[in-house]
Amino acid sequence: MLASGRGSNFQAVIDSIAAGRLRASIELLITDVPDAYAAERAERHGIVSLYIDPKEHSGEGFYEKAADELKKRGVELVLLAGFMRIVKKPLLEAYPMRIMNIHPALLPSFAGLHGQGQAVHYGVRVSGCTVHFVDGGMDTGPVIIQAAVPVYPEDTEEGLSERILKYEHMIYPEAIRLFSEGRLKVVGRKVMIKECKEIEGAIICPPIGG
Ligand code: GRF
Repeated sequence: MLASGRGSNFQAVIDSIAAGRLRASIELLITDVPDAYAAERAERHGIVSLYIDPKEHSGEGFYEKAADELKKRGVELVLLAGFMRIVKKPLLEAYPMRIMNIHPALLPSFAGLHGQGQAVHYGVRVSGCTVHFVDGGMDTGPVIIQAAVPVYPEDTEEGLSERILKYEHMIYPEAIRLFSEGRLKVVGRKVMIKECKEIEGAIICPPIGG
C-alpha cells in the first residue's frame, strides 16, 4: 500500500480484511510524507510502515527502493490510496498490471488533482469513483470498477468528496477481492471480470471470456 495522506481507503481495506470480506493481508505501508496519518493507522493495526524520503531517493530512486521493499516481502498486488505521485518505471516494471489506484471521478473524466472539484465546477450531473490498474500516465490505466454518484447544483467540492468517498470505500476492497480470486484479466484497455456461480456449495468460475 502506498499513501501520502489520511489513508481512509487504506482503512477501508484493513476493515474489509478484519470483517472477513477480503482474504488478503497487508504486508507494508509506504509513505512519501513523514507525518502521513496513514502511518498512524498502520501502527494501530500492527502493519509495518516505511517512510521513503523522496529527496534522499530522488527521481526513479524512490520507485527502485519501493519495488525492492515490496518484492522482498512477497507482495503480489500494490495499492495506491491517495498517493500523490506518478508511478515511475522501476515499480511499473516490477508490478505490470499489478498496481491499482482509486480516483474520485468517473475516468477518463476529471483526471488529476481535485477530481471532485472539477466535477462540481464543470456542472456534471453524475460523477463517482474509479478503481483502475496503473500504467505510466496520470489516471489512464485500464478501468476495473466504477461507481456513479449524483452531483447536485448546490454541491461544494467538500460535500461531493464526502458523498463519493463512501463509494470509494466500497469499490476498492471489491476490486481487490476480484483480483485475489483471480477473476481479473486485462485485455488491451479492458479489464474482463470472470463471473462465478455457486453450484451446490462449490464456487465455479468459467474461463474469462467463456
Ligand atoms: C481519495 O479521494 C482517492 O480517491 C484519491 O485521494 C483520496 C485519498 O483519500 N486518490 P484517503 O487518503 O484514502 O482518505
